[in-house]
Amino acid sequence: GDNDRMIIAIDGPAGAGKSSVARKVAEQLGYVYIDTGSMYRAVTLMAQRARVTVEQTAKLADLVKSLEIELEPGEQGQSVFVNGEDVTALIRTREVTLQVSHIAANETVREVLGIMQRKLAERKGVVMDGRDIGSHVLPQAELKIFLTASVKERALRRYREIVDSQSITLAQLETEIAERDRLDEQRDISPLICAPDAIVLDSTAMTIDEVIHAIVKLSRTKLAEA
Ligand code: DC
Repeated sequence: GDNDRMIIAIDGPAGAGKSSVARKVAEQLGYVYIDTGSMYRAVTLMAQRARVTVEQTAKLADLVKSLEIELEPGEQGQSVFVNGEDVTALIRTREVTLQVSHIAANETVREVLGIMQRKLAERKGVVMDGRDIGSHVLPQAELKIFLTASVKERALRRYREIVDSQSITLAQLETEIAERDRLDEQRDISPLICAPDAIVLDSTAMTIDEVIHAIVKLSRTKLAEA
């Protein structure tokens, strides 16, 4: 029943390993994994296509309201569809990555996506990753994790992920990650923040498997308490 299915929120800065961790935790618990960053990325892609800038707030509001975003669990993780189109690969380009923090600072964008995210969590048994899930979108989440790691380590992990496909240096990546942290932490509306009741996990010196194990263990403890 619903009593043994919780909502797990995993928040933290870019590159802390949230998505790999959240996906595997969901898999081990038989939960649904929801990557909310992909939703902000999808809006960013559609804004770029429509040539709507962050300054055009009214147009951006109209745009986000016109989007039907669907997330589907796939073999390689989660697939993302916008108005029926599979945009899974298209939302991972550098072009999108560089602009997404700006789009994510828009009030209407956050409001609309927040509503979608709450709907997705109505059926319990979800692991949702993002920046403001435990602090803002789902404050009722039974387990909140704030997953972090040093900027250097996060840049290194991203670097290993993208090696040959795009030419970028490690130093460049470090700068970009630090800048994205700054934008995510300093925006006015629901910034990246550690919820007071979140458990902080610093993964700098941990392997992905160790982090997954720690969270699954925490979730079992929570369930035993309930
Ligand atoms: O996790 P990610 O790198 O795919 O997230 C992309 C961007 O979306 C990130 O710069 C911050 C934003 N984001 C957000 O503001 N709130 C969320 N819940 C998830 C992501």
